[in-house]
This record gives sequence, structure tokens and C-alpha cells, in this order.
Amino acid sequence: MKPRFTDQVVIVTGGSRGIGFAISKALAREGARVVLAAVNEDRGQEAAQWIRNEDGQAEFIRTDVTQYKQVEMLVTKTIERFGAINVLVNNAGAHDSAPFWEESEDLWDRMYRVNVMGTVLPSQIVVRRFFDQGGGGAIVNIASKAGVVGEPGHVAYSAAKGAVLAITRAMAVELAPYSIRVNAACPGPVLTDMLVENVPTEEGRQKLADEAPLGRIGLPEDIVGAVLLLASSEADWCTGQAISIDGGMSILK
Ligand SMILES: NC(=O)c1ccc[n+]([C@@H]2O[C@H](COP(=O)([O-])OP(=O)(O)OC[C@H]3O[C@@H](n4cnc5c(N)ncnc54)[C@H](OP(=O)(O)O)[C@@H]3O)[C@@H](O)[C@H]2O)c1
Repeated sequence: MKPRFTDQVVIVTGGSRGIGFAISKALAREGARVVLAAVNEDRGQEAAQWIRNEDGQAEFIRTDVTQYKQVEMLVTKTIERFGAINVLVNNAGAHDSAPFWEESEDLWDRMYRVNVMGTVLPSQIVVRRFFDQGGGGAIVNIASKAGVVGEPGHVAYSAAKGAVLAITRAMAVELAPYSIRVNAACPGPVLTDMLVENVPTEEGRQKLADEAPLGRIGLPEDIVGAVLLLASSEADWCTGQAISIDGGMSILK
């Protein structure tokens, strides 16, 4: 297949591990210059080096996506290093679970701050950059099945991911006149640190796998195809949409 991102500059938040790292590797293989933004310096540097060892172009820029100044710095450094920004993948996220009646205000604040403002702040700052470049650009937000259907045990997370989907649609309408597209991907359970922390036992994860019509939980690589499609020019007439990638789990009942 012809590489779809040759010389395009892509920021992937949370690009240092899990789904974000899989997306970053795939983008680099298709010619993108990838900027990985995450908090843990060692993990981030290692991930960027991994991509460079495969002859990809990647930089890690330490960024807490909930901190406006740090996100501004991420964008400034990306421009200094690569000269432009073409795509933003808002993948950084945080999950926590508790019975609804025991979810603390602190837990709600954290879910909102990382998942919602961690999508809003990079988007605002990158969109201004898209304007400076004369319009155009694509944003892909990583939401969740939890934002699409009701699930027990993580109401605050579900609310935050539901907000990400509402933001995706509203931004898509507001930014369409500038040819900026905004779409979302909604993964079901994917085998990453986040899932293992939430479902620590093999039995628990097998139970989830058994619930999926396609009979297994996802791997980070399973999420890549839809995200790259939405980020690429193949989806030039697609905006405000959300693609579920969840082994068919969200179509049940
Ligand atoms: N795994 C699943 O089952 C699943 C299902 C549905 C949706 N999702 C969503 O998919 C996305 C990726 O999840 P994952 O499973 O790959 O998670 P993960 O393995 O826990 O990785 C999370 C990534 O986000 C980064 N991050 C967290 N807080 C951040 C912050 N404040 N600023 C910058 N980066 C931050 C982490 O950076 P550090 O390494 O620096 O901590 C890490 O790179 C998330 O939005 C998640 O909600 C996951």
C-alpha cells in the first residue's frame, strides 16, 4: 500500500505505550513524522527511539495534556522541529473504576481533567496552528465503548468519554468551514496497562473476551486501522463520526 502520511507531522498524545504507541508506530511506517507526547520521560524516550530504530521519524516531548502551558510548548517545539502540524491524535487518557455511589469528587475531577480537558487543550492549540497554516488538518479523538453504551463500574469515565464524543461532533461542525476534520474511535477492551489495571485477572479478561461477538479482547494494533483511516486523506469527506472497534460488543442487545 502507498504510504498515506509521507512527511506529514502528527502529534499522538499518550504515544508512549498501549494504543497510542501502536498508532505512532503505524504512522511512522507510513511516512509520518511523529511526535509522542506523554508524561513519563523514560518510557517516552524509549518509545521514540524504538521507532527511530525502525528507520521511522519520531520525537518524544514530555507533556502533561492537562497543563495548558505544557501543551503550548508541545506545539511550539513540534513546529520548531518539523515546521508544521497536519494531524492530532488525542489518545492520552485515564481510567478509574468504583461503584457509582462511591466515586469520589477527586475521581470525577481526574476523569474530566485527563480525558476531557486533555482532549480540549491540545485541540484548541493545534486548531489555532491549523488556522495559521491556512486551514486543513485532521483530529482523531480516542473515546471508548464506555462513552457509547451503558456499563457498570465506571460512570465517571463513561461520562468523560461521552463528552469526548459530543466534543467531536460539535468541533466537527464548527471547524468544517476551515476544512478541519474531527472524528473519533471508540475501542472496546484492549490489552494494555489500562485494561490490566482495571481487570487484573486472566479469568476476568477471558470473561470480557467471551462477551465479544468476535470472541476475544482487542490488541493495540486492532485500533490502528480505523484511526489511520480517519486521519488520512482517504477520509477527506468524513467528519464528526465515531467508529466502534470492539469486536462487536457495542451492537449487543
Ligand atoms: N485499553 C482499553 O481497554 C481502552 C478501551 C477504550 C478506550 N481506551 C482509551 O484509549 C486510550 C489509550 O489507552 P491505553 O489503554 O493505551 O492506556 P495506557 O496503556 O494506560 O496508556 C495511557 C497513555 O496516556 C498517557 N497519559 C495519561 N495521562 C496523561 C497526561 N495527563 N498527559 C499526557 N499523557 C498522559 C500515558 O503516558 P505515561 O506513559 O507518561 O503515563 C500513556 O502513554 C485512552 O484514551 C483510553 O481511555 C482504552
